Amino acid sequence: MTLPVSSLWTSADLLEATGGTFGEAFNASGVSIDTRTIVPGDLFVALVGEAGDGHDHVARAREAGAAGVMVHRDILSIGRRLVVDDTLAGLTRLGAFARARFPGRLVAVTGSVGKTTTKEMLRLALSAFGPTHAAVASYNNHWGVPLTLARTPRKAMFCIAEIGMNHAGEIAPLAALAQPHVAVITTVAAAHIGYLGGLDEIADEKAAILSGLDAGGVAVLPVDSPWFSRLRERAGSHHVVGFGAAAGAEARLMEIEQDANGSTLRAEIAGRELRMRLNAPGRHMAMNAVAALAAVAALGLDTAIAAQALERFTPLLGRGAHRRLSLPGGAALLLDESYNANGASMRAALDVLRLQPATRRVAILGDMLELGEAGPAEHAALAADAVRSADLVFTCGPLMWHLNQAIPARARADHAADAGALASIVAARVLAGDAILVKGSLGSRMKVIVEALDALTVAGDAAPTNARGGRG
Ligand SMILES: Nc1ncnc2c1ncn2[C@@H]1O[C@H](COP(=O)(O)OP(=O)(O)OP(=O)(O)O)[C@@H](O)[C@H]1O
Ligand SMILES: [Mg+2]
Repeated sequence: MTLPVSSLWTSADLLEATGGTFGEAFNASGVSIDTRTIVPGDLFVALVGEAGDGHDHVARAREAGAAGVMVHRDILSIGRRLVVDDTLAGLTRLGAFARARFPGRLVAVTGSVGKTTTKEMLRLALSAFGPTHAAVASYNNHWGVPLTLARTPRKAMFCIAEIGMNHAGEIAPLAALAQPHVAVITTVAAAHIGYLGGLDEIADEKAAILSGLDAGGVAVLPVDSPWFSRLRERAGSHHVVGFGAAAGAEARLMEIEQDANGSTLRAEIAGRELRMRLNAPGRHMAMNAVAALAAVAALGLDTAIAAQALERFTPLLGRGAHRRLSLPGGAALLLDESYNANGASMRAALDVLRLQPATRRVAILGDMLELGEAGPAEHAALAADAVRSADLVFTCGPLMWHLNQAIPARARADHAADAGALASIVAARVLAGDAILVKGSLGSRMKVIVEALDALTVAGDAAPTNARGGRG
């Protein structure tokens, strides 16, 4: 049976891109690496990774409607197979081929925090000008970037690639693959510092994205960062657009009025004044929006149209999406930041907590991981921000113990070994009228606490307070 597929990948292109050999030739309308999310007509690429070997799932992929599979161990029972020397290399070649044939404009985003948020803002902004492609999730690594490129629809005019790293040397090859017309560095902060040594090294690694810029490419860099001049040097002869609040920024945040649900801002982007409402609270979100608008201007597009499109932006699931909890005595507000954490995003989230009207503000914080030797000090250093924003600070994990010890007694609440142990404690302590922030690195499993709080919701009254949430 042949599925009617629009040929994102014709069999001829698959061969030319990968240099592989077919069992039986096929076209594919999409690319997938995961049988749980595969769509009929997709090419299933059997990657081998920490989570397992995709070759074990090829039969499942075919059952789910895969047009064919890419494998490096020949599996004769499957007719429609493309055999390559290595599936990750094969996927990367698909990405390179897709990038080479893409006639549109590509924006790449890196930075210690705010990549996915800025990518989603750019998706909204650029969609106002034409078909725009970006990854469905935070696909920013050695398979995520090629997968994003390989999925670029033929009709796309814009593509946004998120590029990330845990270790030195990871960004340059991905930037070379993406060949951006505009490269955005959102921030330089202590994330993954345990693997990188120091902030200078992190800045240099982020700057590696600039090595992929094409000849007329533009670098969008954070002027307020202490590493701005270091980044600018790395841009070499490329045009640099600085974004931020400092004088001299070509994309400059001039005024911001913050409230619990967002900000009203005035910005000057490439000499043009813009006023807009951003429905995502926190100065950090405004800065991401200014970075996105700077990228739009760098592409030569109308920033007023983009700013209008950005008014529809709302925070992403686990990255600030707000939700109402209907507790037995009344409503409480949950700020779900369980997706990830480092010092910069912790401070940003605590600032947002402070903006919330509430009878009591509660911070429930789990370990920020991958900070190496800097870990204990980075956690303790949050104390001033935490007590400024929260009346009660609950903590869990061995690193957050250092924050717990640094918190003045009036705000210090329970500490537990891990999120599972803290979940039942906080479930018994939250009250109607609270604004509750839950944040920690993904590996700290703070989602368990979000689920425990959700479970308190009175049956039949679980509607969200607003349209936030929903994406992730
Ligand atoms: N400019 C910023 N400064 C500080 N915190 C930010 C900024 N932008 C987003 N955040 C916060 O950082 C966290 C992660 O956001 P986001 O997912 O956009 O970052 P990311 O760089 O894509 O992360 P990852 O490295 O996990 O892909 C969220 O809690 C978000 O609210
Ligand atoms: Mg991300």
